[in-house]
Amino acid sequence: MSNEKIKLTTSWGAPVGDNQNSMTAGSRGPTLIQDVHLLEKLAHFNRERVPERVVHAKGAGAHGYFEVTNDIKKYTKANFLSEVGKRTPLFVRFSTVAGENGSADTVRDPRGFAVKFYTEEGNYDLVGNNTPVFFIRDAIKFPDFIHTQKRHPQTHLKNPNAIWDFWSLSPESLHQVTILMSDRGIPATFRHMHGFGSHTFKWVNAEGDGVWVKYHFKTEQGVQNLSNELAAKIAGENPDYHTEDLFNAIEKGDFPAWKLYVQIMPLKDANTYRFDPFDVTKVWSQKDYPLIEVGRMVLDKNPENYFAEVEQATFSPGTLVPGIDVSPDKMLQGRLFAYHDAHRYRVGANHQALPINRPRNEVNNYQRDGQMRFDNNGGNSVYYEPNSYEGPKESHEHKQAAFLVSGVADSAGYDHNDHYTQPGDLYRLLSEEEQTRLVETIVGAMKPVDSVEIKLRQIQHFYKADPEYGTRVAEGLGLSVPQEVK
Ligand code: HEM
Repeated sequence: MSNEKIKLTTSWGAPVGDNQNSMTAGSRGPTLIQDVHLLEKLAHFNRERVPERVVHAKGAGAHGYFEVTNDIKKYTKANFLSEVGKRTPLFVRFSTVAGENGSADTVRDPRGFAVKFYTEEGNYDLVGNNTPVFFIRDAIKFPDFIHTQKRHPQTHLKNPNAIWDFWSLSPESLHQVTILMSDRGIPATFRHMHGFGSHTFKWVNAEGDGVWVKYHFKTEQGVQNLSNELAAKIAGENPDYHTEDLFNAIEKGDFPAWKLYVQIMPLKDANTYRFDPFDVTKVWSQKDYPLIEVGRMVLDKNPENYFAEVEQATFSPGTLVPGIDVSPDKMLQGRLFAYHDAHRYRVGANHQALPINRPRNEVNNYQRDGQMRFDNNGGNSVYYEPNSYEGPKESHEHKQAAFLVSGVADSAGYDHNDHYTQPGDLYRLLSEEEQTRLVETIVGAMKPVDSVEIKLRQIQHFYKADPEYGTRVAEGLGLSVPQEVK
């Protein structure tokens, strides 16, 4: 049992004399508290877990690169997008949303699609999903929404009543619910799905001119999905199926890739478009704003260590670089707070200094100290600003582009409330077989709801999107569409 080359040490570097037997009084014991190696080993083990992400807990990650394939300088001065052929290293994490770390991969759930670009001007995180829209459009509803996706406080079981109660009382969810219940609700693997930034962001060019932008990652592997039956079978046999698939594909050199496209909207169009373009429950028509190619993302390296790279990775929609700003989207605005706050709680105040999160360019600021400050903490350099000692200074050319705000401050919703046109269009776009599977999945998901009132309320939403859609769901549930909606 000896290894002459590599000596086992304690965490303070001293050689360990025995790693198989605790120090005991005689061969029977009891164990002596002076076995400090044993104490340290047990104590460290107790602290091996950090809190799992409150959402998107189960996931898999990989390293790769982004290469620019189209000249888009006229829209953004973002340095990593500045010339065709430019490559930027990146790290991606895919995830399910509602389940715990350890839950099955092949559940019906949106998939997280989070990308960290290590650019020369700092990290840029695009923290999106595999769907272009979301269930709600105001951050204030997010904790309630997520509660309905998690476990019941008494039974500790998933609760279809809560899920459909919330959705039926939040008609803005209908578009995302329709996507979730469609074939795309269970991707075949992480490699076989598209990714979306979902929100509207702002790009600003070197002249200071802005445009609104939405991101689309298109899988080069093709979109493939799992049927309910196959997904359930795989969940039983191999709950880590997607995690394993991604790792194995990369390990054998079958590198997954996505093309990145954007939709660009002139700033002024936001005031006249037929709905509010910042509403994350809507997609922009590609006829109005066609896809423009930007580049290609390739994943070509697995993490060396899951905890260090995947569990400790911290993505935030507020991790921005010059040339990329946010929009007034009310969900995005709330997310600007939520993520780094979660990271400080989950990983610690210095999470951004960990190797997976650390920018590849130099970081110069006056932030010091805090728990687990494991770099040199700024050494003896100047630790306040302004100063007379040539410490780092701001560069005005990188100020966020100024923008106009107006309106009466109030707890106000979006002005427009058409929650039905886009889900209805989506329903009508599906083939007959796809519509049938959509309805069957919804009926299967709603059957366990024990409140008829909730079911009828939700049926009315489907009906308003498309009478056939609502009628078929009602029939599947053995109910009739309520008169008042007809
Ligand atoms: C993860 C909050 C909406 C995509 C998280 C986490 C929080 C959070 C606290 C865990 C972060 C961590 O511990 O590292 C919120 C809030 C939202 C919101 C408050 C609405 C106001 C969205 C939307 C999307 C999204 C609209 C996609 C378009 C993700 C992804 C992750 C995540 C991909 C996992 C990131 C990773 O892999 O580490 N969210 N979220 N979230 N969220 Fe959200």
